[in-house]
Amino acid sequence: MIDLAVPDLSGNERKYLNECIDTTFVSTVGEFVRRFEKAVADKTGAAYGTVVSSGTDGLHLALMSCGVRRDELVCIPAFTFIATANAVAHCGAEPWLIDVEEKSWTMDPKLLDRELAEKAYAKDGKLFHRKSGKRVAAVMPVYTMGMPADMDRLREITDKYHLPLVADAAAAIGAKYKGRNIGALADATVFSFNGNKTITCGGGGAVVGDNKKIIELARHLATTARVGQDYEHDMVGYNYRMTNLQAAVGCAQIERLEEFVARKRYISGYYKEHLKEIAGVTFFPETEWGESACWFTGLVLDDMRDVREICGRLAEKDIRTKPFWQPVYMQKPYVQAERSDMDVTGKIWKRILPLPASTCLTDEQLEGVVMAVKEIL
Ligand SMILES: Cc1ncc(COP(=O)(O)O)c(C=O)c1O
Repeated sequence: MIDLAVPDLSGNERKYLNECIDTTFVSTVGEFVRRFEKAVADKTGAAYGTVVSSGTDGLHLALMSCGVRRDELVCIPAFTFIATANAVAHCGAEPWLIDVEEKSWTMDPKLLDRELAEKAYAKDGKLFHRKSGKRVAAVMPVYTMGMPADMDRLREITDKYHLPLVADAAAAIGAKYKGRNIGALADATVFSFNGNKTITCGGGGAVVGDNKKIIELARHLATTARVGQDYEHDMVGYNYRMTNLQAAVGCAQIERLEEFVARKRYISGYYKEHLKEIAGVTFFPETEWGESACWFTGLVLDDMRDVREICGRLAEKDIRTKPFWQPVYMQKPYVQAERSDMDVTGKIWKRILPLPASTCLTDEQLEGVVMAVKEIL
């Protein structure tokens, strides 16, 4: 069976894990945690970073560290994995859903600006949602499939409204924005190291950025808000620290980040090159401002085709695929959420067919996927 995204653990993972076992440092204190934290910040061009137990936890802490509180609103794109919205809800806040741009599948800055201008008002340097009276506390775009949002345009808007900007870059480690690394574009940027991501720790996440106060607060909250060694805590904190075992795997993985991202981009290019002749098929977007990390790659099918049926036919050929994210406004906990028009999300979400994109996919397997897709389509 060829899967969508499986990890390549053929580097130093075993060696580093054995070091954890030999030294008994398996929990949240250990050399690998410190090393991985530094490596993630360095590789993504951020001055500071802290690693946590998952991307979702990282988003929760990034939002809290940027000042999001109970009964406030956070603008997020409607086209994302539900964890983006859940992290907002974990703060006791609610998502305000904004449609994505067709050319990038990331949050539409023009639409965000229009929504805020029409549905919110400013008072005493803060922004409030007219209908609910709730404070708008942050904007959190998603780097969809590894493609950065247009952060310069979004930053103009968040600056205008004095809002913090948090990036859900869960799947985007290794991406570039206007030639730059992506770790310091937002006030806090969050990565996931779940098993299906470009680099994995089994599970895990990171919060990075150039603002020391924000990252230190995220670290503090992740470690039960402990002060000193004597069971003293100054806030309601969380137990979100990454373990040395997870970080050991992460250290081995991040040594190969450039190789993995290059392979992801190669796979994406290969599909584009070999499947471009099929009628009614286009590809995931890549924009002039960004270089996607190509976490996932695949096809956009026209209305005439049923993605679920094609997944079934690929499965008969031992190729495991599945339809992609259902929009947040269709998910039970968020059907009531404030939202913009959804012209793009409404159109694209059902038409996306991700194809296998594991970094360890061999050339023969890649060829096999292309042949199978050609035959079916
Ligand atoms: C866009 C997005 N945000 C957040 C997450 C959550 O990351 P984790 O699974 O590490 O909690 C994911 C995971 O796939 C994601 O794709």
